[in-house]
Amino acid sequence: MTTTLTLMPFDELEVDSATRVDVDSYRLSVIRIGDDLYVIGDECSHADYSLSEGEIDTDEMTIECWKHGSMFSVVDGQPDSLPATQPVPVYEVHVVDGNITVTITDEDES
Ligand code: FES
Repeated sequence: MTTTLTLMPFDELEVDSATRVDVDSYRLSVIRIGDDLYVIGDECSHADYSLSEGEIDTDEMTIECWKHGSMFSVVDGQPDSLPATQPVPVYEVHVVDGNITVTITDEDES
């Protein structure tokens, strides 16, 4: 099954920032780098801390977990430094009529 969720207006997301959005049962980090958008799972794969509160590296396209410093790719969700070893989920994102939407499939939930 595929679910499409509307998150927030694109214009409300500051450039080079991340915002946590809780919608349905999902906890998402909506990340804007320039005019490009990425949506990943907000919960660090190492422990329950919010990735949206971390620093974004716009050159490396990563977001840092503020708790222990693992850096996650905003593109594929993979951590490139310890202590995290597992990726966070990555979601398909679009802008529809000015609103950011994500498409979540069953595969994403497994
Ligand atoms: S909680 Fe994120 S790296 Fe430890």
